[in-house]
Amino acid sequence: MNVKAPTAVPQDQIDRQLDYIERVAALSRDFAQKNGHRPRAYTQTFGCQQNEADTERLAGMLDEMGYEKVDRPETADVLLYNTCAVRAHAEDRALGNIGALAHLKKERPDITIGLCGCMVQQDHIPDKIRRSYPQVNLLFGTHALWRFPELLYRRLTGEKRVFDTSGTGEIAEGLPVRREKGPRAWLSIMYGCNNFCTYCIVPYVRGRERSRHAADIEGELRELVALGYKDITLLGQNVNSYGKDLPEGIDFSELLERLNRVEGDFLLRFMTSHPKDASKKLFDTMAACNKVAKQLHLPFQSGSDAILKRMNRGYTAAHYRELIAYARAKMPEITLSSDIIVGFPGETEDDFGQTLALVQDIGFDMLYTFLYSKRSGTPAASYADDTPQEEKKARFARLLQAQDQCVWPRQQAYDGKTLRVLVDGVSKDPAYPFTARTEGGLLVCCAGPSLQIGGFAVVKIEKPTLRCLFAREV
Ligand code: 5AD
Ligand code: SF4
Repeated sequence: MNVKAPTAVPQDQIDRQLDYIERVAALSRDFAQKNGHRPRAYTQTFGCQQNEADTERLAGMLDEMGYEKVDRPETADVLLYNTCAVRAHAEDRALGNIGALAHLKKERPDITIGLCGCMVQQDHIPDKIRRSYPQVNLLFGTHALWRFPELLYRRLTGEKRVFDTSGTGEIAEGLPVRREKGPRAWLSIMYGCNNFCTYCIVPYVRGRERSRHAADIEGELRELVALGYKDITLLGQNVNSYGKDLPEGIDFSELLERLNRVEGDFLLRFMTSHPKDASKKLFDTMAACNKVAKQLHLPFQSGSDAILKRMNRGYTAAHYRELIAYARAKMPEITLSSDIIVGFPGETEDDFGQTLALVQDIGFDMLYTFLYSKRSGTPAASYADDTPQEEKKARFARLLQAQDQCVWPRQQAYDGKTLRVLVDGVSKDPAYPFTARTEGGLLVCCAGPSLQIGGFAVVKIEKPTLRCLFAREV
């Protein structure tokens, strides 16, 4: 097989950005001398975990550039909105937020309002922002993220508007990152998607699949473990395609094995998997690797083969059932979750019935359900669609109800069980003051004298409810 390594951003370009980081840091020192405090930055993320990981990179760069992180946009000097395009609702929210900033910009014209991420990578958006949102000073797409220091420098040194949606998605290694506090971390293993599901905008805004080199991923994992992170999620739009574009001949299962050998007390998760590429080898590997959480997010989108075909998903409902049966046979304790789209163009009551049946038969621990949202530029945007929105909403409600009915006995089955959990925060319930997650990712509220945020603990479930397992340390 003739495979070329994914294009990396050349080292001199990375060095150039590190140099811009220094230059902006110098501007920040001047600012601090004049104002008595460091310049302040506010970031807000819309959308998926990949976007959250990207925001952590932007935050890392802001940190190195001398910015203090703030939680309120009104107090910030640089405001950065990392946007999502996967559904219209996410775009509307981002644009609503930006619209509401017009008066702040009038009061403080020197602030920098920035928009980045998937929404702005769509062809029609930069023009729309240029025309209708004069308060936006900085706009850059997913492929230009690593050039943020240079773009910000240009803005801070006099350019009124800096727009950059160029680039083809080269992989940039070696730029700073500032992760959220807590025991959990994201670790991107690949970017982009080649699948072109007909409803989905992602391949158009994040480009083709590019895998990071296994050595870079392992290096980052070692750093994360050394920093004390305990629950690390490997990220990619379709992790099962990992390595197909790498010359080193490694697939996702082999990557998991390699990462599982890294020393330390931590859990590895991954998302998202695609039923067309998820293999028995992957489930065998999951079962064999002690650090890989027995949790699988495997979106099936629809239970109807006719709809799956029109979605260009590349599998049937029967194949999906087989995969789950195999995974459960190998890992009886596995927790399962899925994404489902309700109301895809042309979905009939019968198609929807098949989705409902799949949900009821499989019994998922978690479901992420979405009403179909038309995305311009995708093939499905031109598909005939005569189901009234009210009918789609009614189906959506029926699906949620069916899911709750499936989850309840699953949650009840945990009553009295002893589980290892990772404590990750404080809860609102004084009787169970900590929140935690099971290895399978289920929410637990727990109590106990030696519980500590960021530590593993063994607890006994004493009160299961629909959304939470209440537990006590043993
Ligand atoms: N409309 C509704 N949901 C969508 N998703 C992706 N594109 C759309 C769309 N146009 C959902 C899919 C995917 C999840 C991340 O978002 O279920 O798995
Ligand atoms: Fe979108 Fe399909 Fe790619 Fe997932 S696999 S990002 S749904 S095109």
